[in-house]
Amino acid sequence: MPDSGGSARAICPSLTDELIAFDDFGTPTTIGVTEVDGPSGRVSVDTFTNEFWTSKQRAANRLHEISYRACFKPQLPRFFIDRLTGAGDVVYDPFMGRGTTPLEAALAGRVPLGCDVNPLSEILVRPRLEPPGLNDVEARLAEIDLGRSGGPAATGGPRDVAHDELLVFYHPDTLRELSALRGYLLARDAEGTLDAADRWIRMVAVSRLTGHSSGFFSVYTLPPNQAVSVESQRKINERRGQTPPRRDVLELILKKSRALLGGLGDAERRVLARVWARSLLVTGSASATPEVADGSVALVVTSPPFLDVVDYVRDNWLRCWFCGISAGEVPVTVVRDLSAWQEAMTDVFVELARVLHPGGHIAFEVGEVRAGTLKLEEAVLPCGLRAGLVPVLVLINDQEFTKTANCWGVSNRAKGTNTNRVVLFRKR
Ligand SMILES: C[S@@+](CC[C@H](N)C(=O)[O-])C[C@H]1O[C@@H](n2cnc3c(N)ncnc32)[C@H](O)[C@@H]1O
Repeated sequence: MPDSGGSARAICPSLTDELIAFDDFGTPTTIGVTEVDGPSGRVSVDTFTNEFWTSKQRAANRLHEISYRACFKPQLPRFFIDRLTGAGDVVYDPFMGRGTTPLEAALAGRVPLGCDVNPLSEILVRPRLEPPGLNDVEARLAEIDLGRSGGPAATGGPRDVAHDELLVFYHPDTLRELSALRGYLLARDAEGTLDAADRWIRMVAVSRLTGHSSGFFSVYTLPPNQAVSVESQRKINERRGQTPPRRDVLELILKKSRALLGGLGDAERRVLARVWARSLLVTGSASATPEVADGSVALVVTSPPFLDVVDYVRDNWLRCWFCGISAGEVPVTVVRDLSAWQEAMTDVFVELARVLHPGGHIAFEVGEVRAGTLKLEEAVLPCGLRAGLVPVLVLINDQEFTKTANCWGVSNRAKGTNTNRVVLFRKR
């Protein structure tokens, strides 16, 4: 075994043995080594490659099904949660996005913690950790008066886009309803009366803003995790000869609410309610989270921004507009230069080492970027080492390149990731 400051088998014997013997999907594990320069010399880390989880596996809870740019599948956090934590342990994601880790942790009876620099994340995550009953959602939707005017200028929210420009996405009547709903939600938020049903409605509305089917408020556009600019949408409309069709805002919110809540039984609701009281969602930088207590976390499962591969501000501009967030002011980490990215990640690892308890783990997922020429796990290992963490292993989940990814215009091989590459660290 290579020298990783203690071999993977010595540090995490049962997980390592399981990975070596793993053949749930009919292929044996390939065992290799990742070598990097650490602060005190060359370090070798055991590296295991296989299809460890797959989209074909048992379907995840439908509560996850809102889209978010560069989100991972619930099976990824579940793999580590099942193996490295027990009921009631705290599981944390400092770059939570749509909240795949905290939600999967909560569904598994672990206490969910999450952080993201964009306030949009808490708006997407919290309502699914404390889901209201469908009846409550239905009753609230019936009470909201979308007949009144409530354009962006009237709401007091940031005016990032002129009201009329949004007509490239929406039928005038749909936009009137959407603006009134936005005005209602911003007003309730400002006066402190936003409750669980309102928060749920806001989350669902945000997830329906734009998309490529009749389930969304908009005319045909890119998939919902990426809103194009007004100018690009104008071109899409011209090219396709389309004008925005009428959509019923409340009806679509109700339909999506039924789908999201449909897989949630009484048992799952009881589990979520039990852990919700101890959960914590933070809006801020992953490298400075004084809200999270020292030594409180058993497991971190996370995926940071990969250099400058995804522009989270641009992709989320319309969602931010709806929520009254000035997208341009959200200080997301977008770093083109690899050494600057490593510095930023080292700061995050130092903070994660503080919040982990001794023996706790970090599963840090990175992608293969720049057409596979840059394997970020090799860049991540020195960052964790500098923060005093012990590298346990690298796990590569080799996934089939699916037709779905292709038809959604995701050119994984060229631009993003085709595999999940997870570096596992442990705190001494
Ligand atoms: C790859 S996405 C995470 C997706 C997440 N794993 C999921 O399944 O939804 C990275 C996230 O990091 C957030 N982010 C960027 N810079 C950040 C920072 N400095 N601190 C905290 N979050 C940050 C972005 O807003 C984005 O939501």
